[in-house]
Amino acid sequence: MSNSEARSACWITSSRTFALSQSFSSECGSVRGYPSELAQVWVNLLDNAADAVNGGGEIAIQTLRDDNQTVVEIIDNGPGISSENLSHIFEPFFTTKGVGSGKGLGLTISQGIVGDRHGGEIEVESKGRRNAIHRSTARAAR
Ligand SMILES: Nc1ncnc2c1ncn2[C@@H]1O[C@H](COP(=O)(O)OP(=O)(O)OP(=O)(O)O)[C@@H](O)[C@H]1O
Ligand SMILES: [Mg+2]
Repeated sequence: MSNSEARSACWITSSRTFALSQSFSSECGSVRGYPSELAQVWVNLLDNAADAVNGGGEIAIQTLRDDNQTVVEIIDNGPGISSENLSHIFEPFFTTKGVGSGKGLGLTISQGIVGDRHGGEIEVESKGRRNAIHRSTARAAR
């Protein structure tokens, strides 16, 4: 993800305010894939992070190289995800947002794009009651 792509993803979520930090590893080479679909993944993850920090808070985007995979992490310091909800968040139509606010499809769609289309996976980690980390990987082309 280039800086300009990150900026446009943030523009989409710009009705909400948060501090954004970006760290892009120079070790991340090219990823063979479908750019517009991957852009949708970043938007979905940033959208969730922006909802979680709810008008204040911090979101970090970082990329790194792990073996033959490119890893994109989107980290927020919102309330986190309870262990009960963690096992459901990839299910279609699972949402904790009110009727009309969330369809419960963002992560289902994102998992399909990353997993089925790019041979990667989305891992989610929630440390205690704070910090949700979404780690998306995709096989990188050398
Ligand atoms: N960063 C996060 N912090 C806290 N909870 C999260 C985070 N990301 C996802 N969730 C939880 O996972 C649920 C499912 O997320 P998902 O993106 O699939 O659907 P949604 O955001 O509710 O609706 P949609 O994305 O379709 O508008 C959310 O309703 C929320 O409870
Ligand atoms: Mg969502």
